[in-house]
Amino acid sequence: MRALVTGGCGFIGSHVVRSLIASGWAVTNLDCLTYASNPGNLADVAGNPRYTFVHGDICDFDLARNLVDKADVVLNFAAETHVDRSLLDPLVFVRTDVEGVVSLLEAVRHAPQARLVHMSTDEVFGSLPLGIEAAEDAPFAPTSPYSASKAAAELQIRAYAATYGLPITVLRCSNVYGPGQHLEKFIPLFTTRALAGEELPLYGDGRQEREWLFVEDLLSAVGVVLADLPVAPGAHAVHIGSGERLPNIEVAGRICDLAGASRSLIRPVFDRPGHDRRYALDCANLRARGWAPRVPFDEGLSRTVRWYADQAATWSHSADNDFAAYLDRQYSARLSAVEEFGS
Ligand code: DAU
Repeated sequence: MRALVTGGCGFIGSHVVRSLIASGWAVTNLDCLTYASNPGNLADVAGNPRYTFVHGDICDFDLARNLVDKADVVLNFAAETHVDRSLLDPLVFVRTDVEGVVSLLEAVRHAPQARLVHMSTDEVFGSLPLGIEAAEDAPFAPTSPYSASKAAAELQIRAYAATYGLPITVLRCSNVYGPGQHLEKFIPLFTTRALAGEELPLYGDGRQEREWLFVEDLLSAVGVVLADLPVAPGAHAVHIGSGERLPNIEVAGRICDLAGASRSLIRPVFDRPGHDRRYALDCANLRARGWAPRVPFDEGLSRTVRWYADQAATWSHSADNDFAAYLDRQYSARLSAVEEFGS
């Protein structure tokens, strides 16, 4: 089988590429190598005869169409993904996360053999009250430019599925973490800063809840999905979450313990504007298909912290000038403010 994976040099994309290659697939990786890409993530498969890298953008329709024509399955992981960056620079999110998806939809519309599997997010539902889990048909209520762009992409997918009778799969995942994630995200940022003895900028009161899914459990879920892709026209949503929901302040504390750092490094800072308090996915449908997460959060977090401690050379690609400028823009004022935000 031939897969076109977009965004294959990113965190999740690279894990998916490696897993597909290991399962015997021929994989073409289309990636435009933004700041979040790391070709080093795929050093171990780069020489594999079943692996092809194409440097390009999903928004380039001619290129997308050409590659989709040769694929049995198209897995779209190409995206701008960081909520904080969407607050600083929303336009690029609309371009990649909405226009890019429409470009792929157009390509798939002209390639009847190709099945599209698109990566979405639990953030399309917005913040959920305690006790509520979002089922696949729950209404969208996105609050950030990032989540609004992902919801907009899903609406385009629904429209294409209805109009052209396409069977499309939409994966909605909770917070994925593990080795190889860009340092901008919560767990890698806090881990590398804790290892370096630097303050950990915890937004607001730190009581926001996220549902943490180890990347290997996402891979097994993708395997279940690919083994039984829908043939009926429609946008078929699949929820993938671990059920392990923890407040950020608890995660920050565990990171400190694993990194051998003092919890006093945790520094409450001015909150992310519009910060969603809680996400929670109802994953009963995927579990009914035989999937279950296998890596408990404590184990996954410990493996992740160890990976960042051992692999400084691999992740330090992120420690470049652009990232330093981003850190300065995002955190300098927050960390130099004297007010207490955590009380
Ligand atoms: O829920 C799935 C989503 O998870 C994905 O769709 C997104 O692409 C991915 O970025 C992630 O979004 P979050 O906003 O939940 O992830 P992030 O790592 O940015 O933040 C996790 C939590 O930690 C969130 O409540 C904000 C908080 N946080 C984050 C950073 C970077 C802090 O308190 N301080 C920080 O410096």
